[in-house]
Order: sequence, then structure tokens, then C-alpha cells
Amino acid sequence: MAEPTSAAGAVPVDSVPEFSPHPVEAQLLRGRRALVTGGDSGIGAGICLELAAHGAAVAINHLGGADTAREMVARIEGSGGRALAVPMDVSREQDVSQAFAQARRELGGLDLLVNNAGLEHPYELTEMPLEAWQKVIDVNLTGAFLCAREAARTMRADGVRGVIVNISSVHEQIPWIGFSHYCASKGGMKLFAQSIARELAPHGIRVVAVAPGAIATPINADVLADPKKSGEVQAEIPLGRWGEVSDVARAVAWVASEQADYVVGTTLFVDGGMTLYPRFV
Ligand code: BGC
Repeated sequence: MAEPTSAAGAVPVDSVPEFSPHPVEAQLLRGRRALVTGGDSGIGAGICLELAAHGAAVAINHLGGADTAREMVARIEGSGGRALAVPMDVSREQDVSQAFAQARRELGGLDLLVNNAGLEHPYELTEMPLEAWQKVIDVNLTGAFLCAREAARTMRADGVRGVIVNISSVHEQIPWIGFSHYCASKGGMKLFAQSIARELAPHGIRVVAVAPGAIATPINADVLADPKKSGEVQAEIPLGRWGEVSDVARAVAWVASEQADYVVGTTLFVDGGMTLYPRFV
């Protein structure tokens, strides 16, 4: 079963990956200041390290204990980068305004938000308690709204031509039994992103979605530990392998960079072809 919260899937501190910056001439985000929600686990942690490797200063959001986030900060700063740990529950308005104020103050502004925090926990419709529905919508969708609103306010106030990257899912498109709340949140995220992309583009702020497929992270630990279930997922991927966190993190760094300056309001699927309906013949 999937982990119920992103914090529950936090990378154990002793397994925080080594960090080394990319060569300066290969860095895409030098001088950029980023905030990544759910930054201390799974895909979020990979994104933080990749953005930092590209020269960005990174505010690493965590929900529970700060140990992993602090360890990541130490690794990044130990290699000459800039990072800080920022506590926030993305579904709480007050937390969000405090966290963005902290990031803006300590980094001197904000150029990039990655709306990554999310959770999943399966229930078939007839069994789903309202609280389970509400929690997923609150974190995945309302959290993305609160953070995007705060980021856009900050960027506009500072006259920054920034980027908002939403970490969506193949399930903004593929229906998933037992995860109707999750699919509703990701489908909602898609039209939310497209609508604010239209609002913000005239201000020079780009909004883009990156949609991972099946990625080997703590959120999928139970499926990965079961060869039968893991094989069934693999059969849904034309490329024939689970994705790595780095597959997603590299895509995020690129869409966030000036190289993607004309990419607006679209979803980049990073899924090995999962959205191509491989079992349909
Ligand atoms: C979910 C994963 C799942 C993948 C493909 C993602 O959005 O977080 O748990 O493996 O979609 O179904």
C-alpha cells in the first residue's frame, strides 16, 4: 500500500544521497532561488538536489521532523551551494505565508516554486471516508493553490519573471481504481495550472506541469517489494522499467530553466510511455 503522507516517505537521513554540483558550464539555474514543497522525501528530495546541482539556491520544505532536510542542507552547503530547511504544511494558509516569507527573506526573493508535496492512500469509492477524500484534496490540490498564489504574489511584487512547476501525475489523465480522490486532485491540478498559466504568462511567469509515471520512491515501497505487483506495473510501461527520481528531477530542472522559456501551460509526461496505453492493441 502507498504511504499515506509524503512525510511518512521521508528519505532516511543516513541515506540522503551524496551531492555534487554540475560543472559550472552545464548549470542551468545559476542565481535562481527555488522553493520545493515536500522536499525531504522521494521525488521532492531528488528535485532539490538537482536544482542545487544546477546552481540554484533551494528552500527545502519539510512537514515532519527537520532531520532529513537539515542533512540535505548540510550536503549542499558543504559543496558550496545554498539551501535552507523550511517547515510548512502546504494545506495550511498560515504555514504557507510564513514559509514563503522565510524563503524570500533568506534567499532575497523567489524565482521558482516546485509544487511537489502530495499524498495517496487507496480507498474504493464506497469505502472512502470523507476525511480521506478531504486530506488528499487539501494537500495535493489546495496546497498547490496556496503555494502558487503565494509564489505568484511574491514574484509579481518583486518584478520577477519566475516559474511555477506543478508535479502532477500520469493520473491527471489515466483513471485509477481505488484512487479517485488522487485522480480528482491531479486532474484538478491540470486545469488549475492551465488557467493560472494564462493569468500569469502576461507577467512573464511560466506555469508548467511535470507528470511522473511509476517512479521508484518510498511512496511505492510496498509495490516495489512485491515482485508480482512490481511486474504488473512494469507491464504498463512501454520502456520496460520503473522510473528513477533523477528522470523526473532532470525534467524539472530543464522546464524551470531559460532553455524552456517558450514552454507554457503544458504537461511534460515523464513516464516511460505509460500514458500511451500499452495494453491496448
Ligand atoms: C503514483 C504512484 C504510481 C504512479 C503510476 C503516481 O502518481 O504516485 O504511486 O505508481 O502514479 O500509477
